[in-house]
Amino acid sequence: MVLTELEREMLAGEYGKATRKAMEILAALGKIYGAEAMTPVTSVQIAGVSFDNLGEAGLEFLTEMADGGGKARVLTTLNPAGMDIENWQALGISPEFARDQQRVLEAFRRMGIITTCTCTPYLAGNLPHYGEHIAWAESSAVCYANSVIGARTNREGGPSALASALTGRTPAYGMHLDKERIPSITFVLDNYAQTQFEHNYPDKTFLFSALGKLIGEKLEGLPGRRVPYIRGVGRASLEELKSFCASLATYGGVALFHMEGITPESPLHQPPEETIAIGPAELAKAVDSLNDAAGGEVDFVSLGCPHLSISEIARIAELLEGKQVVKEFWITTSRPVKLIADQMGYTRAIETSGARFAVDTCCVVAPIKGRFKVMATDSAKACYYAYAKNKFKTVFKPFDEVVLEAVKQDQQV
Ligand code: F3S
Repeated sequence: MVLTELEREMLAGEYGKATRKAMEILAALGKIYGAEAMTPVTSVQIAGVSFDNLGEAGLEFLTEMADGGGKARVLTTLNPAGMDIENWQALGISPEFARDQQRVLEAFRRMGIITTCTCTPYLAGNLPHYGEHIAWAESSAVCYANSVIGARTNREGGPSALASALTGRTPAYGMHLDKERIPSITFVLDNYAQTQFEHNYPDKTFLFSALGKLIGEKLEGLPGRRVPYIRGVGRASLEELKSFCASLATYGGVALFHMEGITPESPLHQPPEETIAIGPAELAKAVDSLNDAAGGEVDFVSLGCPHLSISEIARIAELLEGKQVVKEFWITTSRPVKLIADQMGYTRAIETSGARFAVDTCCVVAPIKGRFKVMATDSAKACYYAYAKNKFKTVFKPFDEVVLEAVKQDQQV
């Protein structure tokens, strides 16, 4: 790999131990993937923030990098942590876990990394523009950045994203190259399936989420890594696209898709000839497959996978105004979006109902295994991890109906 003078100096240790380690990680990655050079990045998002996932070994690595003088060279934010940083007691987090999680955040802070913990950095001040090279780690955000924004990022691991933060570089392979962004298979919604996407706005994040699962699973069954070109959706909101990205990345490992008339690179390509049609029956089956509670009583309600936008929080506040919730109800979002909710009075309406904000964290990365039996959500990604990580069963519904699950039956919204 050809390195610039600055990159060679970083590798030689002229910018300190942590920067050298970071450049070593990136050079090794570049070698594995056949990159010819590094590319400068302007934005980084680091995953592997929850102490529940990191453990002592992960914390030790971060501490070593901070002690070695590591300093972020570009705007860098974090994926959700294992708890609400300001209000962890209310979510039943133990003091021991809270202490360890704070040590993790302190290590990031010492490296000049902004400790905004969110999987929707594009809603919280870390928003790249079209064509910009970045190094993000959270799979749903990677898919959103590549597809909806038209920025360029591979799905980074925790250490490689940190290495990019400390050097401002990433190896130029994969999604950074034009040739890797060309679609190779078309998915087309038939007429009836299309109508389901075009009507009943605004309550369709769950349908986009189910579509992401369906397409993701079909791609998983095909050889090689494919970039899908999707036709027939017609229109999609920011919230629906973030939901779709989370599912497609979870069930199909997809980092980039093109959606005709919606995503910015779709006009640059012709739909590939190889085509898979999607009909309403398959879509209905995808929705059904996420409902595995088999008559069990919902005891946990969670919205915000990926983290909620301010419009979604406004809708929850509207639905909960004057009501009382009778189940544990987590509303997960980023700290900056929560501040807007505070200013607008949405927080008051939500908290008066008994629902809780779970800011900086989510129902997947928080240590809640075994605390609940059946979770209601509008997110196929949350369903996947609810079972895989926490062993919860799931009820998968439209957004408004998920809110309804939390409210007393005689006070239904
Ligand atoms: Fe975000 Fe947690 Fe879902 S990180 S995408 S809310 S699993």
